[in-house]
Amino acid sequence: MPHFDLGALAYGADYNPEQWPREVWREDVRLMGEAGVNLVSLGIFSWAQLEPREGAFEFGWLDEIMNLLHGGGVRVNLATATASPPPWLSLAYPDSRPVTVDGVRLEVGARQLYCPSDPHYRALSVRLARTVAERYGTHPALRLWHVNNEYGCHIDQCYCAQCAARFREWLRARYGTLIELNRAWGTAFWSQRYGDWAEVQPPRRAPSFPNPSQGLDWRRFSSDNILELHRAEVEVLREVTPDIPVTTNFLGFLPGLDYFRWAQEEDVAAVDVYPDPAGAAPHLEAGMVFDLTRSLRGGQRWLLMEQATSAVNWRERNAPKRPGLMRALSLQALARGADGIQFFQWRQSVAGAEKYHSALVGHVPPERSRVWREARDLGQELRGLDFLRGARVKADVAVMFDWHSWWALSQASQPAVTPLLPVVGAWYAALRSLGVNVDFVHPEADLSGYRAVTLPQQYLLTPDAAQGIRAFVEGGGTLVMGPYSGVVDGDDHVVPGGYPGLLQDVLGAWVEEWAPLQTGEEREVRWADGRVTPVTEWTEVLHADSAEVLATYEADFIAGQPAVTRHAFGQGYAYYLSTRPDAAALTDLLRGALQGAGVAIAELPDGLDVTLSDTGDGRLLHLIHFGPQAVTVQVPQASDARSGQPRASVTLHPTDAALLRVPVDFSLHELTARAAASIPT
Ligand code: GLA
Ligand code: ZN
Repeated sequence: MPHFDLGALAYGADYNPEQWPREVWREDVRLMGEAGVNLVSLGIFSWAQLEPREGAFEFGWLDEIMNLLHGGGVRVNLATATASPPPWLSLAYPDSRPVTVDGVRLEVGARQLYCPSDPHYRALSVRLARTVAERYGTHPALRLWHVNNEYGCHIDQCYCAQCAARFREWLRARYGTLIELNRAWGTAFWSQRYGDWAEVQPPRRAPSFPNPSQGLDWRRFSSDNILELHRAEVEVLREVTPDIPVTTNFLGFLPGLDYFRWAQEEDVAAVDVYPDPAGAAPHLEAGMVFDLTRSLRGGQRWLLMEQATSAVNWRERNAPKRPGLMRALSLQALARGADGIQFFQWRQSVAGAEKYHSALVGHVPPERSRVWREARDLGQELRGLDFLRGARVKADVAVMFDWHSWWALSQASQPAVTPLLPVVGAWYAALRSLGVNVDFVHPEADLSGYRAVTLPQQYLLTPDAAQGIRAFVEGGGTLVMGPYSGVVDGDDHVVPGGYPGLLQDVLGAWVEEWAPLQTGEEREVRWADGRVTPVTEWTEVLHADSAEVLATYEADFIAGQPAVTRHAFGQGYAYYLSTRPDAAALTDLLRGALQGAGVAIAELPDGLDVTLSDTGDGRLLHLIHFGPQAVTVQVPQASDARSGQPRASVTLHPTDAALLRVPVDFSLHELTARAAASIPT
């Protein structure tokens, strides 16, 4: 498989020259040189310009810009241009327009207007990809294929008749017989038994709760169906240009696509990340996506394909990135293993739906723009950081994550509506506050490389996944599992006999009943050391058989009963939380579990982001400060990674960063960090 390698960290942006006259192109290439841009993503939304009428191609302008960029030392991540079919296509082939759950066929006027099953869209997009590949496959500027764009960002499910037919095919391949389908979907319930494949439908708008097993399969199918469309383009690219690597830009925790599966199709994982600058912790929001992206391909290096220089245009209120934040988030991506930093977009549009989205070159001329200065300075700074390309981020701790479980949990009619991402985010934040590198791990992956695996809310667990978890704990691993986990199997059927059906022996405990709390309602739990801390959202009637009780409920009908347990199983330990503690108590519990597992931790002040990466002959300590107060960090035996000067103490003001080299046996225990004011001078 070809490998993405620019010979340097990539720096650049989506470039949409079709929105600008030629004079501007030359100015763009000049400014790119100033900013150290060495890679642009070109042609993402150019279909209507490249093929203005069906079968009539106009490549002259793209030839010109490819040559211009190459002359300026800028390499190209060339799009197959299939992300936004032109109006002529949607009008000539009306069935290519996707249909919503309510049966509304969408209209021309925005982008991503395609049904993934439509044979016309498929044939025309594959032909365009082939034509582009044949024309530019040997162009010296070409370094990477950018296939389509953000699949599933607007349309992740299409409910049209063509998709219904493909859903049936997918189900036949999965189940073979209707008997098996009826079993998996539990159709004895509500008189849903299917007697003919033709009766089987997508879960369109129905009078009441749709069948959740059907809903789960529909989400699986929808992800696979779009993936087939992606594969059709990728196959052509691999045939025409076997030496050019292929990628498409993921969206992190996008609900629609199972990226663990998708990532296996790419030569390099790439992701677009837009944390809310007005949010509580943009660096945790972004960091979680960076860590996920690295984890999708087993720790390989990856690309930050899009981020904003400042504000986006698509939230209700769009805060700018304050000075320094864009750089700090970019350095964070590099710390977590990114091989390059790209933006949406190079030059800010003056027309269209994204004219208020920030860019490197904004509406204000570069010489008057702080956003430009920050972007240009970062591009220049990156030239001194190429040595990061050799680093790898390894983690002792993982958070289990899985789209299938997310989809099952999102089905209607459960004990409570329990959105997954806030829960995963809270556990991730707690782990990161202890300084540890964190991977996201698929439930059926090999867990043996980790010391501790956490399951914030793994509602669906297949028997294979449960077996893997059991073997992990038996072999000496530490498991920390949150409530409402391990409830259903891969068909979304409850594993009966007390929850979690397949792991009670591992936990030494079992759940008899759930008792979700009302919104805003609070309870308390008492820990073994006497502390009483608040819990929200969820409680359970938990029985500790052979497990040790770490905390008990204070009130209600479960007063005095176990809330948190720990069980020695084989060589390892299994912790179980039957409720949602606050951040401090969750962090305390995880700290104890990690220390017991032999994971080195650090106590970090609010907002200090620490990543350790390995370079083969040593380790790099990336310190980036997102908190509101200056901090001082002491690291014996550290030196500045760029200058080589000894640097055992660093003071970081908000958005400051330091990159230190530490010995190969460095452990996080050796790091102390605290508010700068509290350090005697
Ligand atoms: C996505 C898309 C871009 C642009 C940005 C705006 O990342 O890929 O084309 O729409 O969002 O934030
Ligand atoms: Zn469709």
